[in-house]
Amino acid sequence: MAGKKIITVVGARPQFVKAAVVSRAFKNHPSYISQAFCEEIVHTGQHYDDNMSSIFFDEMEIPRPHYSLDCGGGSHGKMTGQMMIELEKIFEKQSPSLVLVYGDTNSTLAAALCAAKMHIPLAHVEAGLRSFNRQMPEEINRIVTDSLSQLLFCPSKSSSSQLKTEGIYSTSHPRREVVVSGDVMYDAILFYLEKLNITHSESKINQIMVTLHRQENVDDPQRLQSIVEALRILSKDYDVIFPMHPRTLNQSKKLNIDFGNINLLEPLGYFDLLKTLKKSELVLTDSGGLQKEAYFAGRPCIVLRDETEWTELIEIGTNKLCGAECETIVKTAHSLIGTRVPEETPYGKGKSGEIIVDNILKFLSH
Ligand code: UD1
Repeated sequence: MAGKKIITVVGARPQFVKAAVVSRAFKNHPSYISQAFCEEIVHTGQHYDDNMSSIFFDEMEIPRPHYSLDCGGGSHGKMTGQMMIELEKIFEKQSPSLVLVYGDTNSTLAAALCAAKMHIPLAHVEAGLRSFNRQMPEEINRIVTDSLSQLLFCPSKSSSSQLKTEGIYSTSHPRREVVVSGDVMYDAILFYLEKLNITHSESKINQIMVTLHRQENVDDPQRLQSIVEALRILSKDYDVIFPMHPRTLNQSKKLNIDFGNINLLEPLGYFDLLKTLKKSELVLTDSGGLQKEAYFAGRPCIVLRDETEWTELIEIGTNKLCGAECETIVKTAHSLIGTRVPEETPYGKGKSGEIIVDNILKFLSH
């Protein structure tokens, strides 16, 4: 395995959190210490504001990217195409033994397409998730990335069953492996809550936390207005903290939306996000990551979507799908506050980073 190079491609906020876990597990591995392999990080620039990007690298001590591209903004086609042009040059020059991607963003898709076309093995962390809604750009990105990957790391048993249903197990590719690794975001929250000395029993205040950025909510004026109306109603009884994603900010300005008493903030770094989460009684979000982080932090969650990939948490009952309907959101919020969240999770035991690294190194040594 001597001198093998792994190229990790990240670009959007949730990928920094996930890559932090695996990069730390790489660095702690004896083969890394003996220089049998190395990891180089490419940042596509999909997210570029300091509070969407560099704060995560600083707080989570992620190694500085070897390559920082400038492929943020623009249409899906433009963004993905520009990323592919740049990534192809890097893969050509560096000849990696494996490309590692995370989640479901345009950065994931661009790296997956490039690696597959250049016959470089591809590993996908967060494989097998489906919303079954092909209107979401993320769903297209997931399906394509999974079908091109050789190593698929699933956060749960149901995501690996989904790959089986789609025939990914039975593919004729000679070297394709599906591993239930658990969720790296669980590893992250355990590690950083301990580092920040935030205990499980941290006190809650009369506070609700909200995030919103999905294209299906933000780019649809009716859905956006309806969600904000629900938040305005809740802000009569609770302090509603709303760190706002740039997509949402831009659209709200365009539509001249009135946020009333809602407490609007800039996007939070990971540490402030954890502190805010622990102080809140309830989370409302359309983010994939925050749905789980709420659960891991022991808080119930309203999912501001019509479907979710993280179905286990809906089955457990601490997360509720509410779509964008004002009345449903307000009613469900009142009924969910105070719900007890179990400590055990369906997403592994907080050792996903190590499981992923062991399996990548096993794959590379064959
Ligand atoms: C992307 C991902 C989504 C992920 C989310 C996390 C895709 C298709 N979507 O959605 O899966 O959950 O990131 O946040 O890849 N912008 C800024 N500053 C930034 C970043 C973005 O101003 O630092 C602007 C962009 O120019 C763009 C808008 O915000 O106009 C949306 O950004 P984009 O990366 O397209 O999608 P997200 O909504 O962030």
